[in-house]
Amino acid sequence: MAAHSSPSSAVDDSFYQPSDTFFPAQQGVALTYDDVTLATQYSEILPRDANLETVLADRLHLQIPIISADMDTVTESRMAIAMALNGGLGLIHYNMPERQQLSEVTRVKYHVHGLIQEPIKVSPDQFIGDVLRLIEERHFSFSTFPIVDEQDRLLGLLPGHVVRPRYASRKVNEAMMPRSSVQTIVDTELQPDPIARADKFFNEHIGIHKLLVVDDQDRLRGLFTLSDIERITQEKAAPLKPGRDSQFRLVCGAAVSATRNSTGELDQNRIVHHVGALVERGVDVVAISTAHGFSQGVGETVRLIRDTFPDLPIIAGNVTSGAAVEYLAKCGADAIKVGQGPGSICTTRIVAGVGIPQLTALYVCGKAAEAAGVRIIADGGIAKSGDIVKALTLSHAVICGGLLAGCPEAPGQIMEINGKLYKQYRGMGSPAAMKAGSAARYGHNKDITRKVASEGVEALKEVSASLDSVMTQLVGGLQSGMGYLGAPNLAVLRARARFSRITPAGQRESAPHDIVEVKTGAVE
Ligand code: XMP
Repeated sequence: MAAHSSPSSAVDDSFYQPSDTFFPAQQGVALTYDDVTLATQYSEILPRDANLETVLADRLHLQIPIISADMDTVTESRMAIAMALNGGLGLIHYNMPERQQLSEVTRVKYHVHGLIQEPIKVSPDQFIGDVLRLIEERHFSFSTFPIVDEQDRLLGLLPGHVVRPRYASRKVNEAMMPRSSVQTIVDTELQPDPIARADKFFNEHIGIHKLLVVDDQDRLRGLFTLSDIERITQEKAAPLKPGRDSQFRLVCGAAVSATRNSTGELDQNRIVHHVGALVERGVDVVAISTAHGFSQGVGETVRLIRDTFPDLPIIAGNVTSGAAVEYLAKCGADAIKVGQGPGSICTTRIVAGVGIPQLTALYVCGKAAEAAGVRIIADGGIAKSGDIVKALTLSHAVICGGLLAGCPEAPGQIMEINGKLYKQYRGMGSPAAMKAGSAARYGHNKDITRKVASEGVEALKEVSASLDSVMTQLVGGLQSGMGYLGAPNLAVLRARARFSRITPAGQRESAPHDIVEVKTGAVE
């Protein structure tokens, strides 16, 4: 990139300072996202060309630096699948029985984008009229159905062109294409790249739009459609790719608790057993998430997991000091979560009087992380895409809770209040969440028999658009920020960031003002 040094740029440099000048000059004052703004810089890149890849551990590379929080109102398999398909990562929470967490991870790892794993099936004795009713009631946009017996064995295919009112009184088995004429593939033949295999099949079989997948007993295991495969192959050429492991499975993380036994000691067997089961299911990273990561219990848990699973990426936290980063790095963590009290549902700072505003915490922790050769992740307090840009000037990824909790992919029912739709969003330190299992995260026993001080609130988030739309906005904002800073990738973003303090008047100027807003800036 061309250098532009001039007398003017010397003035720029004194007002818009790199982090190593800016933050030490504010010693004793802790700043957060809205306290600063970033200076724009000469640019040769278009936002859409900004590369968002990030490396959190030798074996953990993400296409985009955004992670969904391991909270019970944010990330289960549906959110983790959607996050991975968008190139990010979901951390499945642990407020559920271990067995259930394992099946949530399995669901993500077995989700083959494009393979409909539970296709709608019909039975040979049904009438075509029944099938027509099914299509109408469930608003299906398709009318071709596999036909199976009670053991799920494939008997044939009901083609769309016979599913007509004219044949309503005829039975499915009178109109079906018999098994011998139906093209299928055995599931074991799909590896290593199921999409490429299905694509090849459709190339070789002109006019066939559906490919049924069976197991070695001829039981129906899934269905590919030509239109899905075409969409996915186009997607593959897109700049932002889904996050996949070496076996083409979606990436997935899971939270692990620093569990103690009845005598108060770390329950080493249980932790090793839990992590071992997650590894068996193909988990890509575990997160030891606690409110106070600079503690013996968290350190010992990290060390135990590192010693037992040397290659497994480990995220640990949360911390806000360099000494804490150094400690967790020494114990074996690859990436360290920074954030104590910034979360939108957190009351840690109010209840315990501790915690550090995020940008200062990121700067301080980042210096220690650089020295220790680990990564830091900005966790909590991200309220808009601009905060992500600011966070990534000092870290390698962000964790979002509240920004994603309103998406349909987050767990929880939608409720209507005064004509508006909401979803529950609660802190993992809220009384209800601690009772559901997260008490250890806040240093309490799982069985909360006596009253303990909670460190989070239970709240509602207005239902938002799908995760895909939210991510489009967040990623678009991040890429815009990189374009303004002339940063083709995240390493250059970190290097080129120049900070300036912002006053309350500056903050007011930064948001729409002195107008009557009739439409938000969100692109629909
Ligand atoms: P956002 O701001 O994205 O924050 O909603 C999500 C992050 O907040 C943390 N978290 C909590 N912190 N009490 C806290 O002090 C809580 O009850 C609580 N629950 C979640 C967590 O780090 C999450 O990723």
